[in-house]
Amino acid sequence: MFHFDLLQESNGARRGVLHTPRGDVQTPAFMPVGTVGTVKGLTIDQVAATGADMILGNTYHLRLRPGHETVAKLGGLHAMCGWDGPILTDSGGFQVFSLGALNRVTEEAATFQSHLDGAKIVLTPEHSIEIQQALGSDVAMVLDHVIALPASAAEVEDALARSIRWARRCREAADRPEQALFAIVQGGLDPVLRQQCATELASMPFEGYAVGGLSVGETPEEMYTTAAITTQYLPTDKPRYLMGVGTPRDLIENIARGIDMFDCVMPTRNGRNALAFTDDGPLKLRNAVHREDTRPIMDDCPCLACRHSRGYLRHLFNANEMLGPILLSHHNLVYYGRLMREARSAIEENRFAEFASGKLKGWGYEPV
Ligand code: GUN
Ligand code: ZN
Repeated sequence: MFHFDLLQESNGARRGVLHTPRGDVQTPAFMPVGTVGTVKGLTIDQVAATGADMILGNTYHLRLRPGHETVAKLGGLHAMCGWDGPILTDSGGFQVFSLGALNRVTEEAATFQSHLDGAKIVLTPEHSIEIQQALGSDVAMVLDHVIALPASAAEVEDALARSIRWARRCREAADRPEQALFAIVQGGLDPVLRQQCATELASMPFEGYAVGGLSVGETPEEMYTTAAITTQYLPTDKPRYLMGVGTPRDLIENIARGIDMFDCVMPTRNGRNALAFTDDGPLKLRNAVHREDTRPIMDDCPCLACRHSRGYLRHLFNANEMLGPILLSHHNLVYYGRLMREARSAIEENRFAEFASGKLKGWGYEPV
């Protein structure tokens, strides 16, 4: 039911299609984040119109509220939020470690306290799969043990070994042909551990492979190097997903290193904070320089924000009007959608390196 077609390669970048029972995902793909069953501020039609084929939901959040059983009673995540295309759910691994008051990690489970009401939750690999089955996502992720960097070699190795054992337990528990399961490569910034983890997971039958444990405080260059090392040991005929990344620059640099899929809160979170991405770098719409500026954020942008002047958008944020965050979230997702479409065309036409260096220059970077 799931199949990845690698159509073309250009300067290390890959153009592909992930076929799922709910439709195709053109890669390289950016997945807008709908943590609690909504891409914040936008209707599902607006999200689809940005060119997104797939969106992301979070096991951790939906388990706590409204609860996976409630989601199932509402017809599953697709019916509940009105998105009938593919949905990927993260396993809860990352959120337990970043949001939950983590009590302890044993071989059996991660035990944490809800950030909402303090309830104690025991998240085993099997429970993570059970939740993702109740949500009815098209792609489920394995439960992984994520640690903060920097960490000692012993801590990184321990978390990595546990992540591999948990991945195997998830594989055994995930028994629905209509739901794919992706493994997650951990290993910090250590090239040997990344190779070990990627090789081990690649020997097990997953429909795709994610690079995890990045964008947690390392430099962009360290992230790019680690992604490049990891993809080297992953099967070429399966999609590679870099979790929680990133800026427009991060997307381009990692596409150049063989990554096919991304998700990040950045376009929506930054949009809510009055930051708009453009080909000339980010614009901060709260700044006084925009007060009487009649120009749109970008001249050729088809989004809802770019029908208005920068001066009006600044005013909306200044007056704390809800339309400001909505319009900028839309602009940023349209911008990300367009960037990915342009990247796909550049790969098809075998001019990815030239395309990438042009974009990076506009943002003030040299390719690395
Ligand atoms: N989101 C961003 N990074 C990660 C990761 O390493 N693991 C999981 N499960 N989700 C993530
Ligand atoms: Zn726009």
